[in-house]
Amino acid sequence: MTTSRTGVDAERFVRDGFAVIPGFKAAGEIAALRARAAEIVDAFDPAKASGIFSTRDESTKNDDYFLGSGTTIRCFFEEEAFDEHGALRQPKALSINKIGHAMHDLDPVFEAFSHGEALDAVVRALGLAEPRVYQSMYIFKQPHIGGEVGWHQDATYFATEPETVTTFWFALERADRNNGCLWVEPGGHRGPLRERFSVGNAGPHLERLDPAPWPSGGAVPIEVESGTLVVFHGLLPHYSAPNRSPVSRHAYTLHAVDGRARYASGNWLQRPKEFPARGFV
Ligand code: FE2
Repeated sequence: MTTSRTGVDAERFVRDGFAVIPGFKAAGEIAALRARAAEIVDAFDPAKASGIFSTRDESTKNDDYFLGSGTTIRCFFEEEAFDEHGALRQPKALSINKIGHAMHDLDPVFEAFSHGEALDAVVRALGLAEPRVYQSMYIFKQPHIGGEVGWHQDATYFATEPETVTTFWFALERADRNNGCLWVEPGGHRGPLRERFSVGNAGPHLERLDPAPWPSGGAVPIEVESGTLVVFHGLLPHYSAPNRSPVSRHAYTLHAVDGRARYASGNWLQRPKEFPARGFV
């Protein structure tokens, strides 16, 4: 009954912690974003950067390349991109894990995809009165070597008081169990925040806040067609398996918080005054 013309069922979102909106983005918009991502990767010189992304090895997050990426556009390699001699196993275009984290503000093609009335209507239907989009990520989930992203909650990385971070996950290709789709624990957003990643005087660190285990059963795969928007609560536990299939699984994500909430000074991604996080319109 609460599925408005935004396509989002707000009541179900409150119950399950996520909502799936098929056909949110048109094929032409997706093609434009994919083409622009390919150009960014093509222009990327691996000799100038390290940046292997892994959620399993927190030390990789500690390097300046990652921590300095919140206000710019950088490419990160898959963990398995390199062989034992340090050479790429696959061509560069098939070795990049993701691009992050400010394309939505800095690149015109990404900016167009990341803004508009339709997105604004969704975020408002979910109760974020002053949405602020802090982060964008283009995730490749490459064929054969696409890495696992272990169970986590996105609020771990975007603390606000109260918790408001909301994730927008756009399928840029079909995502299914074969190529590493999202898995979520329906209703799991009503559980505790388990971990907090923050940057302080002691450097970046991941702190265990609650001993609650990650889901061992009851998780469901979110198998969706290209163009689908999956929006989920910052406390919703989710993961995605490695991609061992010959098919990629491109996705694009945005993370928004409510500007009325206090954004933690310990969050790794900080926006300077002259480059503030903006809303969807
Ligand atoms: Fe996540």
